[in-house]
Amino acid sequence: MKFFLVAGARPNFMKIAPIMAAFRQRQTAISDFEIFLIHTGQHYDAKLSDTFFTDLQIPQADINLGVGSGTHAQQTARVMTGFEAACLRERPDWVIVVGDVNSTMACAITAKKLGIRVAHVEAGLRSKDMSMPEEINRVCTDVLGDLLFTTDRLADENLRREGVAEARIHFVGNTMIDTLLLHVDRARALPLPEGIRKTEYAVLTLHRPGNVDDQKTLRALFQAVQDISRRLPVVFPAHPRTVARLNEFGMLRAIEEERAIRLIPPLGYVSFLGLVSHCRMVLTDSGGIQEETTVLGIPCITMRPNTERPITCEIGTNVLVGTDPNRIRAAAYSVLAGEPRRASVPEKWDGHAARRIVEILLEEHA
Ligand code: UD1
Repeated sequence: MKFFLVAGARPNFMKIAPIMAAFRQRQTAISDFEIFLIHTGQHYDAKLSDTFFTDLQIPQADINLGVGSGTHAQQTARVMTGFEAACLRERPDWVIVVGDVNSTMACAITAKKLGIRVAHVEAGLRSKDMSMPEEINRVCTDVLGDLLFTTDRLADENLRREGVAEARIHFVGNTMIDTLLLHVDRARALPLPEGIRKTEYAVLTLHRPGNVDDQKTLRALFQAVQDISRRLPVVFPAHPRTVARLNEFGMLRAIEEERAIRLIPPLGYVSFLGLVSHCRMVLTDSGGIQEETTVLGIPCITMRPNTERPITCEIGTNVLVGTDPNRIRAAAYSVLAGEPRRASVPEKWDGHAARRIVEILLEEHA
């Protein structure tokens, strides 16, 4: 039995690390399965890729497709072409994809057309916003997946509503949280950037095309961030896409000169987790950070009109505020005013999701 485990971009690496580890734990001299790690190369910068492999002790990929950046069609096509060749050469029985990036969808389509079974980890999340490339990737991948591993009950409901047979749906928990729980103590012990004191700063992340590619939106967001930074310093590990846009729109210099906004390069996994675990609040448009802050009990202000992770708003620390500067400011000031917020951790976000996934996959062949 041969499994391909696919990763392509930064948010995939923390999801595959515990799956890889769980497979290895089950591997003995007599076990009859092999696991191949495939890196599509969608992210290739050391700071978006290599550091995660080192930090999370992920073994080097067996195959790297080296696809790099491009338009969505170019990137998807390059992943499909490279991945098809790898599948034809190695003939895996299963392809395991995680998350919702272009590599996820590209490999799911390629595998399915070759008659290879597909398992999707983090299935069933829906923002119901088809202007997000990730939503298209999620829907396409779930239509094709033979096994759909979900992180919460709302995701199960989404899949049922789309007519997915019960036998394909497995509620296993959240592999990204497996990784968080494994590293959080080490992360908390790391020193903070100089001049930054525990609980006395906000963390900002921003990279979604809908937010950063449009000059008017990006200016409005930074207007709010600048106002907030006058009350609470903001640490901003910036994605290369965002830095490029800030530069293009002539905004970069002014932000770099703001003393209360600390623009820094993207951080490795453990450093970022350490930074978030001690902050007062997070301002973000990320998907995964909404979940991580819920587990850490840190208030999260999500600058998007919708979320594919509503459980983090229902029972966690997340609030959705869209891109209106007034709403962003109001949410941040309410955290600063210490307004209490309910928060609990979703079911099965307990550090054992990857073990459940591997058990189910191996049982399929017992
Ligand atoms: C991708 C994912 C997104 C995820 C994000 C996390 C899709 C559709 N999007 O978005 O869901 O939240 O990763 O980072 O798959 N670039 C570099 N170095 C790299 C990779 C990219 O500088 O290693 C720059 C390039 O200019 C590139 C741009 O970033 O054009 C965007 O990269 P891309 O992989 O297309 O999407 P992300 O915005 O990173």
